[in-house]
Amino acid sequence: MIYYRNKKTFIEGVSLEEIARSHATPFYIYSQNKIEDTFEKLESTLSAEIFYAVKANSNQAIIKLMASLGAGADVVSIGELERAIMAGVNPKKIIFEGIGKTNEDISFALSKSIRLINVESIDELQRINSIAIKQNKIVDIGIRLNPNIDGQTIDKISTGKKTDKFGIDTEKLRDIFQILEVSKNVNLIGISCHIGSQIFNINIFTEIFKKMKINAQLFIDNGYLIKHVDLGGGLGVTYQQNKEVLKLELVKSEMDKFFKNVEYQLSFEPGRYLVANAGILVTSVITIKNNGGINFLIIDAGMHSLIRPALYKAHHDIEPVDKSNSELTSYTVAGPICESSDIFDKNISLPKQKVGNIIIIKDTGAYGKVMASNYNSRGLPIEILVNNDIFCKIYQPLTAQEFIRQDTIPEWLD
Ligand SMILES: Cc1ncc(COP(=O)(O)O)c(C=O)c1O
Repeated sequence: MIYYRNKKTFIEGVSLEEIARSHATPFYIYSQNKIEDTFEKLESTLSAEIFYAVKANSNQAIIKLMASLGAGADVVSIGELERAIMAGVNPKKIIFEGIGKTNEDISFALSKSIRLINVESIDELQRINSIAIKQNKIVDIGIRLNPNIDGQTIDKISTGKKTDKFGIDTEKLRDIFQILEVSKNVNLIGISCHIGSQIFNINIFTEIFKKMKINAQLFIDNGYLIKHVDLGGGLGVTYQQNKEVLKLELVKSEMDKFFKNVEYQLSFEPGRYLVANAGILVTSVITIKNNGGINFLIIDAGMHSLIRPALYKAHHDIEPVDKSNSELTSYTVAGPICESSDIFDKNISLPKQKVGNIIIIKDTGAYGKVMASNYNSRGLPIEILVNNDIFCKIYQPLTAQEFIRQDTIPEWLD
């Protein structure tokens, strides 16, 4: 996806210097070829229906690309649902998730006749039924289970342990069956789970598959026609060269141990896996300074553009676009935000840098721009999609000046 030719860095057929000359940094760039290749490998290896978790990168161009490849969409808010519909995803290929669905969310989802709503609590199940009665509709639902599995991932992205807020405790299924019995406007057609992000250990997938098979059978034995079993997202991606990569073939062989000849359709809802390695954040060096013997390379991307390092201590490889200088120096790469946690990496070795140089932060296609903010009243980054030797700006944010005009000062303060 990224390569060097004649001392220039290219993403697909486009020179990064060329894009950086015409677009202000920081900006995100995504490779269409990389997304296509990743999707095709995932779908063909797992032979399951794929619902792209829009939260990972909700730009409508990315959603439309996924839909054109055959993906459905997994959404968690009215905004994400609208984005998916505007990007042309067939409503019957959209599932609505989310731990805190308001009545407004539920009504909106009902009005769009989507595939199903995944229910996360007993109260939500009752509210969906009441809203469906008012709208005189029968609504298809799934139950998101909390299978009590430790994904062995960092705590901040774990969602499948009994003590996490997500899903319905499988020990409460008797209560769910009782409520379903009297909830005539909901039609249970599926079960799902999602135990967290960045799962690499194959034994964890085995445990998910085993528990979901047992639970699907429990629903079937209780008289429910289960059409869909959704095995979640969380497929791990590598953020470092030479680091462990999840072997999809192994995941598939574990699936086959449990789900050969079942009558329901299997699906996954990955986000990160499909887009993380397809994006980079392009940024410029604002200033270089030495404090207490540490060489700080201050760049114009910060935690407002990419919060993962500050929020999760996430690692991203950092490289200069121009590697021609062979003199190496150790740098701590930091953003411009007034927070000590606004650091991308410490003491990394890079070719000696000058103010104005272009630096890339790699593997930022997932949970990058979607988590960006206007903190310190700075603007959001633009986004660009590259397709072979053409590229297009796919997101133009408000400028910082436009953004600050969104506040209103009440008359009484004048
Ligand atoms: C319900 C649900 N499904 C899917 C995903 C996607 O996870 P990942 O990006 O790790 O594949 C998430 C992420 O938080 C989620 O909450």
